[in-house]
Amino acid sequence: MTYHIPVMLNECLEGLNIHPQGTYVDVTFGGGGHSIAILEKLNKDGRLFVFDQDIQAKNNLPDDPRVTFIHSNYRHLYKFLRLHKATPVDGILADFGVSSHQIDTPDRGFSIRFDGKLDMRMDTSSPLSAWEVINTYSREQLTALFYKYGEIDNARRLTSAIKEAIEVTGQIDTTNQLSDIALPLSKGKGSKYLAQVFQALRIEVNDEIKAIEEFLTQTPSTLKKGGRLVIMSYHSLEDRPVKNFMKYGITHGIPEKDLYGRFECPWKLITKKPIEAQPKEQEQNPRSRSAKLRIAEKI
Ligand SMILES: C[S@@+](CC[C@H](N)C(=O)[O-])C[C@H]1O[C@@H](n2cnc3c(N)ncnc32)[C@H](O)[C@@H]1O
Repeated sequence: MTYHIPVMLNECLEGLNIHPQGTYVDVTFGGGGHSIAILEKLNKDGRLFVFDQDIQAKNNLPDDPRVTFIHSNYRHLYKFLRLHKATPVDGILADFGVSSHQIDTPDRGFSIRFDGKLDMRMDTSSPLSAWEVINTYSREQLTALFYKYGEIDNARRLTSAIKEAIEVTGQIDTTNQLSDIALPLSKGKGSKYLAQVFQALRIEVNDEIKAIEEFLTQTPSTLKKGGRLVIMSYHSLEDRPVKNFMKYGITHGIPEKDLYGRFECPWKLITKKPIEAQPKEQEQNPRSRSAKLRIAEKI
């Protein structure tokens, strides 16, 4: 089984505009596909710092003295890079979401295709799993997260169905049990509905949107002037804060303007519109179909 096929590899490398002696950061190491390609462009003085909150990713680390693995959430980007005396850096790459390996491991509970325990933690030492969310959250909490993170319009009905099932069986333990409860509520394509339910849970369990926002706000102080920020998102909830941050320097809302209508933004946009994968890549790698790549340069 391939751990993960890197998406838009050449486009990401071009976006990083790699200097051979530079210092780069891949905050979502995963199978290391992007990282290994970055290393190939660095000379002996170049350095690469890689983050992953999933310790399993460390098994993919190449035996190369130029690489440092940081087992942490990328929301702690600046702290760890300072600790390693690596700031400021020349480029940061982020490839959000889960790896194919994580999705394809039934026990991790990420996939609607296999039965597994309700888990969905990328960091397996984290105390909050999908089991706790489903079995211990209040009606209000569940409805809110299905609505907000899954964009599920009958979120209230879904929550009621889950609560009724818990009353009957005591608890919900597996992904198949959850799918059986949710599926009858789907108005259109069942797999699409389940994907929304699972997405909502995954985002909640891993606190994904807040982590992205915290990461983004640290990038200007982490990069050198002229350094590149290269980010790949896979759905609108991930892409929205990135788009806003690159345009306005804040993750949501519009910035305060001075008398002349000017505002401070640390970025020059390299991509006015997001780059999408070429048709051939989309055909070969279905995961690339929803990818949006945005690139900005620190000014
Ligand atoms: C889409 S995969 C990256 C694949 C990688 N670019 C490759 O070529 O193999 C995302 C990886 O980032 C990790 N990840 C996701 N969110 C994270 C976060 N907030 N902090 C640290 N790692 C994270 C996941 O555990 C996963 O291994």
